[in-house]
Formats: sequence, C-alpha cells, structure tokens
Amino acid sequence: MSKTIIISNRLPLQLEINNNSINTIPSVGGLATGMKSVHSGSDSIWIGWSGLTEEKLDPEKRNLVQKALKKHQCVGVPLTESEIDGFYYGFSNNTLWPLFHYFMEYTEFDKDNWETYQSVNQKFADVVIENLGENDTIWVHDYQLLLLPEMIRKKKPNVTIGFFLHIPFPSYEVFRTIPCREELLKGLLGADLIGFHTYDYERHFLSSAQRILGLEINFNNVLLENRIVKVDSFPMGIDYDKFHNAAKIHNEKEKKDKTEIQQKIDEHLVNGDRAKLILSIDRLDYTKGIANRLRAFEYFLDKYPQFKGKARLVMLAVPSRSNVPQYQLLKNEIDQLVGRINGKFSEVSWTPIWYFYRSMPFENLIDLYTSSEVALLTPIRDGMNLVAKEYIASRVDKKGVLILSEMTGASKEMSEALIINPNNFEEIADTLKFALEMPEEEQIKRNTALQKRLKRYNVEKWANDFMESLETKKNSAKKYS
Ligand code: UDP
Ligand code: G6P
Repeated sequence: MSKTIIISNRLPLQLEINNNSINTIPSVGGLATGMKSVHSGSDSIWIGWSGLTEEKLDPEKRNLVQKALKKHQCVGVPLTESEIDGFYYGFSNNTLWPLFHYFMEYTEFDKDNWETYQSVNQKFADVVIENLGENDTIWVHDYQLLLLPEMIRKKKPNVTIGFFLHIPFPSYEVFRTIPCREELLKGLLGADLIGFHTYDYERHFLSSAQRILGLEINFNNVLLENRIVKVDSFPMGIDYDKFHNAAKIHNEKEKKDKTEIQQKIDEHLVNGDRAKLILSIDRLDYTKGIANRLRAFEYFLDKYPQFKGKARLVMLAVPSRSNVPQYQLLKNEIDQLVGRINGKFSEVSWTPIWYFYRSMPFENLIDLYTSSEVALLTPIRDGMNLVAKEYIASRVDKKGVLILSEMTGASKEMSEALIINPNNFEEIADTLKFALEMPEEEQIKRNTALQKRLKRYNVEKWANDFMESLETKKNSAKKYS
C-alpha cells in the first residue's frame, strides 16, 4: 500500500529525557500545528528530528525514543549537537530565516554552517530513502530542507516529490545576495511541485529561477531539460472546527471546570479593573514585531489617555531558538520594554501589560482567544500567521476585532480585519482606538465573512489541494514521458 511521507526538521512532538523515561511535548509553530491535523488520521509517516541529540542517548534510551516516535507514526533523523549547531541554529536560523524575512543585517553566511546544512540534508535524504516504498509520495516542508528534493531525486529519479515553504520567499534582489543561491534553487527544483503561501512568494521564486539559473518559465512552470516543475500558491488554513468547537465547549463550561487562567480572567472581569483585553500570541521572534507592538501600545496610551485602566495588552511570547544571539538580545529588549511601560503607566488597580514568556497548552490558548476583545498581530514579516486565523475561528459569538499586519501572508485572505503597517505607530494607535470602540454589529459583520472563508479553506482543504495538484502533475508527467 502506498503512503505519504511528510518530512520536516521538527516533528509534531518533541521528546525530553526525564530521569530514565521519555516525555513527549507538542511542538509549537505553524508548520507543526497545521500539519499535525493532516498527519493524524491519514496513512502517512512523518520523518524529522526528535529534539534529542545523539550525545544524550545510550542504546536503551535510543530504543525508547524509537518506540515513542513510532506510536505517533514518526521516524527520527539522528542528529548530533554539532550538527544541530551548524544546520539548525547556524545555517537555517542565522542565515536563511533572517534573509527570507528581509532581515539582511542579521544574515550571516558561514561556510562551515553551509557544509553542515548540506550534510544534514543528505542525512534526511538517506532516512527518507530507507523508508520509501513503491508508489509513495514525498512531501518536504520548509527552509531547513531546501536541498532535500534534489538529493532524493538523484537516488530515486521517478519518485513524486512535493515541497512547501512555510515562510516568505524573498524578492530576487534579496535572494541573490546569498552565496549558495544556485545550489538552493537547484535543491528545490528537485521537486515536482513547489508550493508557497501567497502569489507574491511564488512570483519571487520564479523570478529568481529565471534570473539566477537562466531557466525558461512558462506561466507557473519551470522548464528543466528533462522535467517540468510546477510552482503554485496554497495559502495554509487551520483546523477550523477544532478551534471553533473547543471555544464553544469552553464558553459553556461551569466555573468549577474552567482552567485556572480562565477563572482568574473571570475574577478580573467581576472584581478587577474590567479592562478590555488586547491579545498577542507569537514565538519570541524578531520577525513578529513584538518590540514595535509594545512601542505602539505605549504611543497609544500616551495619545489616548482615556484608555488607561480601560484596556490591557495580554502578550504571550513563546520561547524560541534561544541559542541564537539575536533571539537573546530580543528577549532582553522585550523584558526591558515591558518593565518600562508597566512602570510608566501602572496604577494600583491596573497594569497595562500582562506578559507571559512560556508556551501554553491548547486549552489556555482557547481561554485567551475567547476572552480577548481585540487581537493585535504586528509581524514585520510573516509567511502566513495562523494565530490570526485561530483567533477568528474561536470567536463563537462573532464578536472581537482582529488587527493584522499587512506584512503577513494571512492579511491577503483576511481583508475584513483591520490591516495595518507594523512600522506606523500612529496608524496602530488610531486603529486600536477604532477597534476598542467598534460597534458590535460591525464586528459581527466582518467576522461572519472571515469565519465563512476560514471554515471553507481549512487545513484539510489546503493539504488536499496541494496533494491533488501533485497527483495531477504526476499523471501528466507519466502521460508525456
Ligand atoms: N502555539 C502553540 N503554543 C503556544 C502558542 C502558540 O502551540 O503556547 C501555536 C499557535 O496555536 C499557532 C502556532 O503556534 O498554531 C504559531 O503559528 P504561526 O503561523 O502564527 O507562527 P509561527 O510560529 O509558525 O511563525
Ligand atoms: C516556523 C517555521 C517552522 C518551525 C517553527 C518553530 O513556523 O516555519 O519550520 O518549525 O517556526 O520554530 P523551531 O525553530 O522551533 O522549529
């Protein structure tokens, strides 16, 4: 029987050693949360890194790891500490991530890291080939594995390979600056179908393929000597029903069944300052515009002092890539900003910012989504931003206002949200005021349209569209070969 092989650097679960047993924790980030819904209940295996480096494992623990992964239809790629340093922290997150998000000043190119990136991609390719059955379909994900399609193709010329990039593909002028630009493009072009979140990213890729490799482009097809590679956009959706139904159940819960966080929020609404909650949720990442958001919130309170005591920013920042220096610097900057703004405005009965630096389980995310009148999401660049979609899906009564950066892929599909430029504090402050004062009928009107679209273009439809397109591509290739 044929299966789909999903491959990404991070598996949907992360393993941790606790004394002599293995703990499983869910992975954070759009790729993991989205693809988890696709993987569960389907005939697929998922290949990736377990979160544990080889140095931490003896034969007995390695056996436990394999068993834990197998339970979730996952297969681990064994990686050492120095491989994780060069491949993950180094080339993936110190070179590709900043470059593809237009943070050129953060982009470092280190030859050793590039070599490790190549050898680790080869390791992934070897594990894929070990697990490949006849007629299997391969679906590779994201910037950590750009070379994988070509590496697999070299060993298995006729296999069907799809690739999806979860982050932006930058414009040619930015992409051309990376020394290994040709190798990266050739790596990707090993796939039969390359998918992006938006049409803009798709155009950027095609333009790079044409100008850097001199390839012929016909509509959205790249013509290679003996193959055609299809390039298309597939905006990723969310598991709409999961969020909507969880929010429904949440709203109907008796006090005693509520989570501790929800009980505290409720208590605040009865006996506290009753300030309206403005929510933001992101990994602590410089692309997410967290510092800008805080400065804009400060500007808002200065400009519209009538909201002091009446509004509060609830900010969940999830720890991410904390070995990369830029992330450490950002953490310090955010800590200082939150401290300064709280120090500047706090009153005995009101604090302007509640700041959580941790990840939260699903039910607490639902608490936050359902309790916040406004979501303020201000990325400087973001491939998609699923949090925006999750917030809207969780608003069962259709009330609530989404303020969303125009630099996110999600803004292209969510025009009923209040779209802002994350660098324009004046605009953010005015939009916050507008959001906090928006009549309920208008909120409902906007969210009705958004919910209808999100429900229809959910993650299942996204995956099916991608797979159907890959299937069509495969069949037409067979017909003409
Ligand atoms: N998320 C999570 N735990 C948290 C906070 C967030 O699992 O404590 C999830 C959130 O529900 C969303 C994902 O992380 O599905 C973030 O995806 P997004 O596309 O917004 O950003 P990314 O992290 O992929 O850049
Ligand atoms: C984004 C990337 C994913 C990545 C996730 C979490 O969503 O597109 O590939 O897995 O962030 O980042 P991490 O570095 O912890 O895997």
